[in-house]
Amino acid sequence: MRNRILLFAFGLLSLTSFAQPNQPLVVKIDRPAAEIAPTMWGIFFEDINFAADGGLYAELVKNRSFEFYKPLMGWKEEGSERFSMNSQSGYTTIIIRGDGTSSNPRFARVNVLADQGYGLSNEGFRGMGIKQGIDYRFSIMASQHSGGNVSVRIELKDEKGNVIGSSRISPAGTEWKKYSTSLKASATSTKSSLTLWFEGRGTLDIDMVSLFPGDTWKNRPGGLRADLVQLLADMKPGFLRFPGGCIVEGHELATRYQWKKTIGNVEDREVMINRWNREFTHRPTPDYFQSFGLGFFEYFQLAEDIGAEPLPILSCGLACQFNSAEVVPLDQLDPYIQDALDLIEFANGPAESQWGKVRIAMGHPEPFNLKMIGVGNEQWGPQYIERYALFVKAIKAKYPSIKIVTSTGPFPDGELFDYANAELRAMNAEIIDEHYYREPNWFFENTKRYDNYDRNGPKIFAGEYAAQSVATVSPDNKNNWLCALSEAAFMTGLERNAEVVTMCSYAPLFAHVDGWQWTPDLIWFDNLRSYGTPNYYVQKLFATNKGTYVLPLAMGNASITGQDKLYASSVFDKVNNEIIIKIVNASDKPQVKEIALEGKAKINPKASLIVLTSESMDTVNSLDDPKRISPVEQPLNLKGKKFGVTLAPASLSVVKVRLAK
Ligand code: AHR
Repeated sequence: MRNRILLFAFGLLSLTSFAQPNQPLVVKIDRPAAEIAPTMWGIFFEDINFAADGGLYAELVKNRSFEFYKPLMGWKEEGSERFSMNSQSGYTTIIIRGDGTSSNPRFARVNVLADQGYGLSNEGFRGMGIKQGIDYRFSIMASQHSGGNVSVRIELKDEKGNVIGSSRISPAGTEWKKYSTSLKASATSTKSSLTLWFEGRGTLDIDMVSLFPGDTWKNRPGGLRADLVQLLADMKPGFLRFPGGCIVEGHELATRYQWKKTIGNVEDREVMINRWNREFTHRPTPDYFQSFGLGFFEYFQLAEDIGAEPLPILSCGLACQFNSAEVVPLDQLDPYIQDALDLIEFANGPAESQWGKVRIAMGHPEPFNLKMIGVGNEQWGPQYIERYALFVKAIKAKYPSIKIVTSTGPFPDGELFDYANAELRAMNAEIIDEHYYREPNWFFENTKRYDNYDRNGPKIFAGEYAAQSVATVSPDNKNNWLCALSEAAFMTGLERNAEVVTMCSYAPLFAHVDGWQWTPDLIWFDNLRSYGTPNYYVQKLFATNKGTYVLPLAMGNASITGQDKLYASSVFDKVNNEIIIKIVNASDKPQVKEIALEGKAKINPKASLIVLTSESMDTVNSLDDPKRISPVEQPLNLKGKKFGVTLAPASLSVVKVRLAK
């Protein structure tokens, strides 16, 4: 509401005040400049902050296959003393499958001593989000021991212990089989739990205990959380980078992300400790593991669903250099390179190919049309360059049209950056990923960063950026309006330089309010709700107003890069036949500006103005006030191609003017 009042006041000004004595913003509407890559504004996904397990992947049961390093982590025995020798009701032991090769080696053996008294309950990912009226799909792998007749009563309980859904399964026979049922929730609760009550007598082996909401994205069984995917889809992203981030590299090589272990049946995907589990002492998350239920097939499918080009990033044989920095000797790099080649085949290969066949068996006969791949995440030094060169040689030999993304490391300047930048340019790299986690001022001051980059050199992927309100990796960082505004100013510089910059993504993407390790993040959620930060709305405004090519925009012949605390860029959108001007007013005063659209084309007088602003630089959005800072649109009735606009203090304004038919 506050936004609306402000906007109303400034809107009135915009209609009444006209040319001020200051210089106009001149847009040359007949002078198309650089094309804007369709991939320009995209998404960076990493399983950090419970982004996958506990977040986007809608599984509600934590440690469903008893593979966490403490096998009963997330589980609690009901009706039995954990450390008692004399349980009257029952007890659970953890069994290791004998062959030593299983990717799902453990299961739970439930010994039921007294009918109805013994159970196992699962706490979910900091609780389970349950919605009234929704069907929840329960499944379990079970095998009855000979002579036993154990059945399972399944109960969903809210945080007060009230039963809000129940069902039953009755496993039969000693063969492992999957049993499924569904429970309709009678109430809504953010922190529910699931209890399995074992009834009858005997011993039941169980594994892969699973509960999914019925209302996943596209109602896919075992699918993704619909509200979170919707927030991504609403951004109309040009690409979707996956799976990270440092998670690609692993704390050590053994825990690097290996795509082949993330496809096929979910029960065969090997659970692994998440590298963010123990990364920060300020946010330890001992219950953070990767089930890979959201694996590479689901990733490609998600990218396709939301119309984004997939950009997988793979290990280059170097573990995270902030951690172990383990490195694979050059003469042993082949399996890593083969992984990259096989991934391209998995995404694009025909039915006759080894990996194309696997994709088709998983339910996607058409290729995913993968066009690019990243080698290494945020590596540095000669050890990276040597390995990158071998990947390029092999990938280009087999797939010459696949574009390869490389990286200049974790910092946007300094020795590591300069070394990698020079080497990669000398090697004619195609797309270079640059990362900037810096204070807001850095973003305001770097809007000209790409003005002098070589137009004929590699394209730039601004692959990870986020203004840090306190300091990089400080747990006190906030997604406040100052940070979002500084990013918007910087992004006008990215857009102005679309000739060089072809891909950009904020990072990280998701954070669970009770399970995060890193802040700031683009989208926050709890078990039921989610919201976009002010930074999200900045990203969304740029991405949904991307345009087709850049239009020259100047104030007194100079690009608008901080004069009067203004930052601006403009584009033309061929699909909507529309001129789009983005202006950041970083001052604390309203500024009345004249905009002059120079050129022959006639305009439609019915234009619009979208404003994103806040009364304070410290304002944040939250679960309880998710749209406190969000775009507000109003019509603009133009009298001609010169018109006045009042730019609210501390605002991002998007002016949209259609050409007349
Ligand atoms: O986005 C969080 C981390 O920041 C990423 O994993 C890494 O690439 C960068 O250092």
